[in-house]
Amino acid sequence: MKKETRRGFIQKSILSGAFFSLGIPFINANNNHESKTLDSEFILENTNYDRIDWTKIREQFLFPKDKQYLNTASLGPSPRMVIDTICKTIEKLETTCSHGHSLTKKTHTQIAAFLNTSPDEIAIIRNATEGMNIIARTLRLKAGDEVIITTHEHVGGASPWLSLQKDLGVVVKLIDLDITGEKNLQIIKDAVTSKTKAIAFSHITCTNGMKLPAKEIAAFCKSKNIYSCVDGAQALGMFPIDLTDMNPDFYTSSGHKWLFGPKGTGILYMNKKWISKLNPVFAGAYTDSKFDLNSLTMEYRASVQREEYGTRNTAISLGLGSAIEFINTIGIENVAKRGRELANHFRKGLSEIPEIEILTPETAIYSASMLTFRIKGKDNLKLNQEISRAHKIRLRGIYENDLNAIRVSFAVFNNFKEIDNLIFALKTMVKK
Ligand SMILES: Cc1ncc(COP(=O)(O)O)c(C=O)c1O
Repeated sequence: MKKETRRGFIQKSILSGAFFSLGIPFINANNNHESKTLDSEFILENTNYDRIDWTKIREQFLFPKDKQYLNTASLGPSPRMVIDTICKTIEKLETTCSHGHSLTKKTHTQIAAFLNTSPDEIAIIRNATEGMNIIARTLRLKAGDEVIITTHEHVGGASPWLSLQKDLGVVVKLIDLDITGEKNLQIIKDAVTSKTKAIAFSHITCTNGMKLPAKEIAAFCKSKNIYSCVDGAQALGMFPIDLTDMNPDFYTSSGHKWLFGPKGTGILYMNKKWISKLNPVFAGAYTDSKFDLNSLTMEYRASVQREEYGTRNTAISLGLGSAIEFINTIGIENVAKRGRELANHFRKGLSEIPEIEILTPETAIYSASMLTFRIKGKDNLKLNQEISRAHKIRLRGIYENDLNAIRVSFAVFNNFKEIDNLIFALKTMVKK
């Protein structure tokens, strides 16, 4: 047997066993990867932006080198260290027959530090949709109360409010956003009435990658006694987020997009001022600070972690912490700068194609690492399929809000060559 560490052997056995038995070629001869093992160690020799080794970062991801994946906004692949943490944790917990709930304390601390808030304001949940549902239900709104949402919300960010409309008679008001980004604060302010109780909006829209002025909206909401509920599914891991500075009432996100975290993870932030005032939506083990069945007594914990009721998947929670470590190793400022540079390079390339209309604001304060465009007069959803089939570039068609467009995500594993390939593909296609 080849000499290798016991840990490496166990990892390979677990992984190849699990994945091959499902018929999925996890590590095969054709994927062009030099390294065939997972590795919890990820060290970058230099984190000075101009000297970052982006190829080394690319090597941390398992998907084949020739796969051009520009769709992190839908699903971010996890780097080796995240998968390694999940596998090792499963192995450890299964060996000791434990659920390991107390181990997640480390992840709460990591998330809180990443978002500049306190661990008691952070819960690990399953996804952004669950987060928005918890937010919507915890407010205990009544018939006739108004909630403002925008035409650019994802189904997961909007449905929780529409369900309140169905169940309770809450009135959901839909506002259209300005795709230059500039008028959005005013549009939101103008929509408020004396009945408005909450405003739910995306920090970055999933449609055109537009950044909303979350801090200003949160401050406006505070001045009007309205709950600010931010959907950060497209923002967490894309650029630095400081929740103390933003000061919203609620912020939720997926862990599996720009953070490259495990699938089935998300975060929920609740401003500490609400923790003692709003009751949790669900209750169970870990919700309580005091529980006595004989006297029918239950007290809620003074932490939003009370939303983590019952037995959970500790392995993916720790994987979420590893995802934060991965981003921190690169530096979130560097991640944001790389995304913006790639986006700018793409924008420049698009400007040479007159048939193309860009739907993402150009100004840095209203955009980040995503760009949405469409070829005028064409069915862009079909074009997206054609790009995938003929040019092997994975993007996302945007049917939402009838935009008939294509969205491109720029993550740390992407490079300028892939963008040039995409521009070449588009130039070929507009001529057809
Ligand atoms: C803005 C936004 N909100 C919510 C979601 C739903 O995320 P999840 O699958 O984590 O619930 C998405 C997914 O694309 C999204 O883009």
